[in-house]
Amino acid sequence: MIHTHLGPFAQLPDNKAEASKAFRHIEIDEAELRRCGHFEHGLRTRFEIAKAEAWILLAIFWDNMQSPIHDHDSSDCGFHVIAGDVEETRYKIVRDDLVSPVATRILKPGESAKSTGESIHTLGVPKGVAGQSITLHLYCPILGYDAMGIYREVDAADAIVVKNDKTTSRR
Ligand SMILES: [Fe+2]
Repeated sequence: MIHTHLGPFAQLPDNKAEASKAFRHIEIDEAELRRCGHFEHGLRTRFEIAKAEAWILLAIFWDNMQSPIHDHDSSDCGFHVIAGDVEETRYKIVRDDLVSPVATRILKPGESAKSTGESIHTLGVPKGVAGQSITLHLYCPILGYDAMGIYREVDAADAIVVKNDKTTSRR
């Protein structure tokens, strides 16, 4: 199903806008996507759904977990919330790799968002909630997991806020 919508863009490696446009209108079958991955206790687990020269489509299964604070190298990202609520916090740089929060919002299943390469944020199951969520992400160009810049949050007293990050990738 997913290849039906995005497959043609595999032949258009430089046409990021067209791939993003298709992604915005893609119809996601939640049951089908659930069969593409699984939850792992206390982790966020990434599953490659489709890939072309210009983009990669990843499903992320979140189990009571938030991502590290990260940027996206030079990659733009659009994502859909497929199941469960997702909390996103955006940050601004204080200095070096230290950041402070700017805004937090809750995204519901069916909602979408996008971020550019320089956007710094964290995503995950809402803090303080023991739950599971599934998101589907299109990265253009392909974002290597190791290419993401990782940041540390500082509080108002300039003390570093300790975060928990456990991530696994599955193909
Ligand atoms: Fe991100």
